[in-house]
Amino acid sequence: MAESATQAIGVFDSGVGGLTVLRALQAELPGENYIYLGDTARLPYGTKSVETVVRYALQAADELVARDVKALVIACNTASAAALGALRERFAPLPVIGVIEPGAEAACAASASGRIAVIATEGTVRNGAYQQAIARLRPDARVQAVACQLFVALAEEGWLDGEVAEAAAARYLQPLFADRVAAPDTLVLGCTHYPALRGVIAATAGSAVRIVDSAETTARATRTILQADDLLQPARSPGKVRFLATDGVARFASVGGRFLGRTLDASEIELIDL
Ligand code: DGL
Repeated sequence: MAESATQAIGVFDSGVGGLTVLRALQAELPGENYIYLGDTARLPYGTKSVETVVRYALQAADELVARDVKALVIACNTASAAALGALRERFAPLPVIGVIEPGAEAACAASASGRIAVIATEGTVRNGAYQQAIARLRPDARVQAVACQLFVALAEEGWLDGEVAEAAAARYLQPLFADRVAAPDTLVLGCTHYPALRGVIAATAGSAVRIVDSAETTARATRTILQADDLLQPARSPGKVRFLATDGVARFASVGGRFLGRTLDASEIELIDL
């Protein structure tokens, strides 16, 4: 069936982190309807093998496609790194948008020195997707990628500042910025959970470092792709959002509200099984 402008945009992540992308999408494309799926039962994706993440991403996408979406946004760096190709292949010609290319573009545009640090999950760092995407856009760039897996747990726990978050940030980030002369001038938040910890990350990196988050660039990329396919819904009135989670709707609501920037009630979230 051909897609039409009135259908929703499907968005998924392993948990609530992708709500930072949903928020940017709603700001960029307020007239659209969205269905957001957080695979909270199987979080984290970042420590799993590529094969497992591909399987989970295909299941999440199948669920959204069965709900008749006109495009898919993979609001998870780990799943974008592992499964973008597999999802595009399975669902063609449905537009499938990942967060890595837009994040790499934003990093290359932000960096003056070409020294770019990427912080992400173990899976994203191991896969090398950011390193490759940045090298394609800017072959002279020097990229250092560091896995900061604990940040996902801190974000899901809602421990966004205070001594535990500060200690984790210091442990992960200080080695990157120890030599102020050779240090990266740009730091990519290569996991959609990390914008929630932006304050503590920025304070540890130092004020000279530009922090890049792929949410806004992904939202702009989504607009461009939908426009090209004539699938944009004019913003006559605010669109609707439906939330799906594979576990813990009460927790999804209490933590997710912080990521989304508004109060979420557990009654807004449908519990599903994949
Ligand atoms: N939010 C996800 C990402 O952008 C992954 C978090 C996880 O499940 O490990 O990579």
